[in-house]
Amino acid sequence: MEDTSKLNTSKLGTKKYWDDFYTVEKSNFEENPEDTGECWFDDSNAEDRMIEFLQDHLGEYSIAQDASMIDLGTGNGHLLFQLHEEGFRGKMVGVDYSEKSIEFAREIMNSRFEEDSSLEFSAADIFDPSWDISQFDVVLDKGTLDAIALSGLTSPNGKPITSAYPKVVEKLMKKNSVFLITSCNFTETELKKMIESPVLQAWETIQYPAFKFGGQVGSAICSIAFVKK
Ligand SMILES: C[S@@+](CC[C@H](N)C(=O)[O-])C[C@H]1O[C@@H](n2cnc3c(N)ncnc32)[C@H](O)[C@@H]1O
Repeated sequence: MEDTSKLNTSKLGTKKYWDDFYTVEKSNFEENPEDTGECWFDDSNAEDRMIEFLQDHLGEYSIAQDASMIDLGTGNGHLLFQLHEEGFRGKMVGVDYSEKSIEFAREIMNSRFEEDSSLEFSAADIFDPSWDISQFDVVLDKGTLDAIALSGLTSPNGKPITSAYPKVVEKLMKKNSVFLITSCNFTETELKKMIESPVLQAWETIQYPAFKFGGQVGSAICSIAFVKK
């Protein structure tokens, strides 16, 4: 079977691409404060679906109104801002390896939220072994594993960098915490194959409208919640 964890590389897998991208988005925002930039997978309403999922599962595993959350590859921070708008009030950390993304997210935060909003943004490469951060109740990824898969980077053991991803996520998770990921590059089966382990188990899948192409039924996007046992 084809190893789909090794996707073709693309400029979307480079830090330079994201630095340039958020430089433009930040300057657009400075000109027009209504323009908070691109919301990944907006067509599929993925952000709302992820938030609804957390709302519908309040009280299950570590999902709570005051759950601590980290958003990996946060971009403009929109997912965390929306979670805050929807009443989630735990500590929320957005991390991204593009300093420009972090500057941009902080600018939006400072313009929209009180200083003590419990939101924070921090620049880090999630694969940096010296990156040290606490554990969370909810770990989020919207489009970040997709971008990482396009980098073509490898781990020190020569395997695709994506193979190191589940361990990075697991380290950030408390026992009984939830990892909610949305991807457009991987199918539900592929994501489960990449991420599942005895410690990290698939729990629920968010269903999106399916499309039919060439007799095959598929979905352009997929969100799965995993639980740390
Ligand atoms: C497709 S964008 C998604 C952004 C945001 N999650 C959203 O939904 O709008 C992928 C993001 O992952 C970030 N990223 C890629 N590789 C990363 C890494 N190794 N560590 C931290 N962030 C990374 C990029 O800078 C970019 O902001």
